[in-house]
Amino acid sequence: MVTVTVNASKTYDIQIGAGLLINCGEKIKMLHHAKTVVVVTDDNVAKLHLSKVTQSLTSAGYQVLTYVIPHGEQSKSREQYFALLDFLAENRITRTDLLVALGGGVVGDLTGFVAATYLRGIDFVQMPTTVLAAVDSSVGGKTGIDIPAGKNLVGAFYQPILVICDTLTLNTLPESVYNDGCAEIIKYGCIADAELFEWLKSPIRPQIERVIARCVSIKRDIVNQDERDTGIRATLNFGHTIGHAIEKASHFSVTHGQAVAIGMVRIENAMQRLGLASQETFEAVRDLTAAYDLPVQTAFTADELYDTMTTDKKRSGDRLRFIIVKKIGSCEYLDVSVKELQGNEITLRTVLEEALK
Ligand code: GLY
Repeated sequence: MVTVTVNASKTYDIQIGAGLLINCGEKIKMLHHAKTVVVVTDDNVAKLHLSKVTQSLTSAGYQVLTYVIPHGEQSKSREQYFALLDFLAENRITRTDLLVALGGGVVGDLTGFVAATYLRGIDFVQMPTTVLAAVDSSVGGKTGIDIPAGKNLVGAFYQPILVICDTLTLNTLPESVYNDGCAEIIKYGCIADAELFEWLKSPIRPQIERVIARCVSIKRDIVNQDERDTGIRATLNFGHTIGHAIEKASHFSVTHGQAVAIGMVRIENAMQRLGLASQETFEAVRDLTAAYDLPVQTAFTADELYDTMTTDKKRSGDRLRFIIVKKIGSCEYLDVSVKELQGNEITLRTVLEEALK
């Protein structure tokens, strides 16, 4: 087992290892003296992992309640949010009790937001069961739900008290879902860790524990400095600016991981064409991404993505910030103008046109 400690507004451990769920009750008992633990999960994960979690919690002396939501992004909704709050209230869950989020990003984000707001805040534990949740969404305290105007538009920064990442759960994922999470892993190598990038050229499954530990250590270092996402945390958005536009334009039929994969490769294509990154860097990002069976191109045109990007919540005034990688293992900001060409400025339209060539 590897442990990575986060020192944000809360200090907490991320434990990563094979078979950790079997003993999750004992681990939580060392930290928390709740009477009742409410385990929130989805219908897919419930079939695979819920009984071992509830057994371990019960053996540790907790009263255990379970709450199962339908799988998929549609559960990150106002309806599910209020239904879970009602469930907690009906069962007289108090502020000294505990929530557990057992599942992927949807379960983690919803449960985390309920934990942040129920009785003005109740502790929760993250137990990620997807690669994406293990390396990204379960760490760093971003919680929230979607509203019709957009994804994640309502939420809170609220850190868990513990993250237990049982790598055996990842073996139950379909290959495409596993690879989807690998897009975020490739992102960490690109922006912060050339050695991790090299590791990823070998099969990932046998080394998944050290890879996850490396990714969450990078995220930990960033979150420790900028928990509320006003500065350096934006570097975690490499590939996401074009990626989010593709997700939205496809009405989310392109998954998050696929969209980030395309976003990383396309922005590097643009940087190489604009003379800001080398051909070698672009090809390295493209080839590693393709090796994980992730897409590296999109059929959407610059016009189709342009409008979505100019309404991006990360836009500030007339500028939009891209994260770019000139050399694998480090990243920089590139601010572009969303107005038409003035002088030598790089505009969003130019970036998009070059990206999609
Ligand atoms: N997923 C990006 C972040 O946590 O900031």
